[in-house]
Amino acid sequence: MIKILVVHGPNLNLLGQREPGVYGVESIDQINNRIHARAQELEMEVRVVQSNSEGEIVDIIQQAASWAEGIIINPAAYTHYSIAIRDALAAVHLPAVEVHLSNVHAREEFRHRSVTAPVVSGQIVGFGGDGYVLALDALKRIIASGAKR
Ligand code: DQA
Repeated sequence: MIKILVVHGPNLNLLGQREPGVYGVESIDQINNRIHARAQELEMEVRVVQSNSEGEIVDIIQQAASWAEGIIINPAAYTHYSIAIRDALAAVHLPAVEVHLSNVHAREEFRHRSVTAPVVSGQIVGFGGDGYVLALDALKRIIASGAKR
């Protein structure tokens, strides 16, 4: 079984209630159920974590180096300025896919910049909760190809 870490960043625990016009009506539990269902079909094992804390996300990414083969991460607001999360992703050298529910490029200018994008394999942006499911498929292919980040 390919083991994958899924990280939901700050405020994503509020999905469904939080700005549903931007982020959709699906709750984080509903999205996580879809992630688990697709992972099972792909014979992947996922551990899903949500944290509002930058340091905790850094710790979780560092720990993934010892057990995971890939990472799916929505760093949420940290995307735009957390050098600490970027450095953690770069340090663990695992293939990673960055997901954003909303199309950040169609929103405020400060959301156009991702400091984490240069250290991940790619981004999936603007497809709501589907993005995480698509990311599983992408990671499976990346890992099967033997590519490191
Ligand atoms: C987000 C986009 C970020 O700009 C924002 O801060 C979030 C969620 C998204 O999934 O669309 O919290 O990462």
